[in-house]
Amino acid sequence: MAVSPVLTASDVVNDAAVIPVIVVDDVSLAVPMAQALVAGGIRMLEITLRTPQALAAMEAISKAVPEACVGAGTARRAADVRAAADVGARFVVSPGYTAAVGQACRDAGLPLLPGVATGSEIMVAQEDGWDVLKFFPAAAAGGIPLLKAWQGPFSDVRFCPTGGISTSNAAEFLALSNVACVGGSWLTPAAVLAAKDWKTIQALATQASQIRRA
Ligand code: 3PG
Repeated sequence: MAVSPVLTASDVVNDAAVIPVIVVDDVSLAVPMAQALVAGGIRMLEITLRTPQALAAMEAISKAVPEACVGAGTARRAADVRAAADVGARFVVSPGYTAAVGQACRDAGLPLLPGVATGSEIMVAQEDGWDVLKFFPAAAAGGIPLLKAWQGPFSDVRFCPTGGISTSNAAEFLALSNVACVGGSWLTPAAVLAAKDWKTIQALATQASQIRRA
């Protein structure tokens, strides 16, 4: 199924139950990595803006792997959002939230998963119109008990917990009614990327794409 040209945050979190959080150190690995992830059933790909190669990686994947849908992660400034939009990013994920990042996403027409870890942060993001939020750092900030506590006051918010999630606990997070999907770096381990072991990346993606929401 083709991904629609303009995405909403719900489109991003309702696709596979896992969004890979990807660090690219070598642009030449970006396209085969994305192809392996797509072959395993994962097409929403968060490329983190943590390396000098991130923007070039997003551009390469956007051009060469149309089945994938590239998002920019670790967006901390409005300029990050603009740079990512310029190279074809179609959604944005941030580790926290500022109004400037939110406005830049609106200006670029891109959905944002703003990072939150407290009730006040949820309220600020919601006030600005964002209601599909990244819960980061999920395990360190309170994990499943905190998500359960938020089900009362924030029953209209859906979360993508990220940080400390892996195959061992993803299903437990996904069993919660306010968890739309989870994010994690376990699908693209640095050593596996460096070894160009695309079979393993595909197998990790296949395994992740088979995890079911409750
Ligand atoms: C992130 O970088 O957004 C998360 O820290 C990814 O966390 P993980 O490496 O624990 O999956």
